[in-house]
Amino acid sequence: MKKKVLLTRKLHDFALMDLKKYYDIEIHQGKIPMPKKTLLKKIRNKDGLICFPYDNIDKDVLSAAKKLKTISTYSVGYDHIDVKYAKKQGISIGYTPEVLTDATADLTFALILDLLRRVTEGDKTIRRGRWTQIYGAYDYVGTDISGKILGILGFGRIGAAVAKRAKAFGMNIIYHNRHTLSKNTEKSLGVKYVTFDQLFKKSDIVSIHVPYTKETHELVNMKLFKKMKKTSFIINTARGKIIKENDLIYALKKKIIAGAALDVFRNEPIGLNNPLTKMQNVVLSPHIGSSTAETRKKMAEITVINLKLGMIGKTPLYSVNS
Ligand code: DGY
Repeated sequence: MKKKVLLTRKLHDFALMDLKKYYDIEIHQGKIPMPKKTLLKKIRNKDGLICFPYDNIDKDVLSAAKKLKTISTYSVGYDHIDVKYAKKQGISIGYTPEVLTDATADLTFALILDLLRRVTEGDKTIRRGRWTQIYGAYDYVGTDISGKILGILGFGRIGAAVAKRAKAFGMNIIYHNRHTLSKNTEKSLGVKYVTFDQLFKKSDIVSIHVPYTKETHELVNMKLFKKMKKTSFIINTARGKIIKENDLIYALKKKIIAGAALDVFRNEPIGLNNPLTKMQNVVLSPHIGSSTAETRKKMAEITVINLKLGMIGKTPLYSVNS
């Protein structure tokens, strides 16, 4: 008899076809995210789980999953899984780093360029029929990227890929990370380590690239916004809850900082009742860091490979808790 795998959502057709060859798969069809009650019921007799970054795979789910051997998440982030408890239960976890590094760094840069050059704002102006005069000295002026200080919070794969792009744009790059790089690496990348406080004080643009953990929960809050330059911007393509969203909204309203570009939010998806949607000095995107055709395909491939390895008791290709 084939082993049973639950998918909390559909994946690419090629991935589903492959999975079907080996497993008896059940794909959740209804409301996204899958309601907890349904998940608790469905996970009971499953050997494998493919999930997404919005699925809350907590102690309750893991306790209900009496037969579960492996979890394969279609994401680099794994803050939605109780990793410690999974390990205790002997459940392996696979994830999809590396393949989405460039796509996420590209989006970070797209947001920086959009925000500082007011591209989306201009687009809205035109579409609303409000572009009435051309080329005024003070019209739609943005901010130069070149020569500005980019502060990268979290210098893992994505932070480093953002630095590479920033260098090409002539920016000065500072970073803060749990571990400092060697002097040689700093030199070759053209980056300089600063303390956490200095990063916020000195940067013209702060870009967040740390994972979401207990330690980074609402790490970026009013205390820090007050330390930032009034002309500075904040970019978040990591996880929404790293920023205290209400503090950010206040800081933007009161012009404590100049603007923000956000791909991630406290609660996703956000709707029009979120004040951020009304602000001119804000660029928003719907959690699309890894969302290119090429990257998403590679993520699906790795998700399947991780699952297959986990199902036979081997360490996933990219393992969170081995
Ligand atoms: C991830 O993989 O964790 C990203 O948030 C998806 O864009």
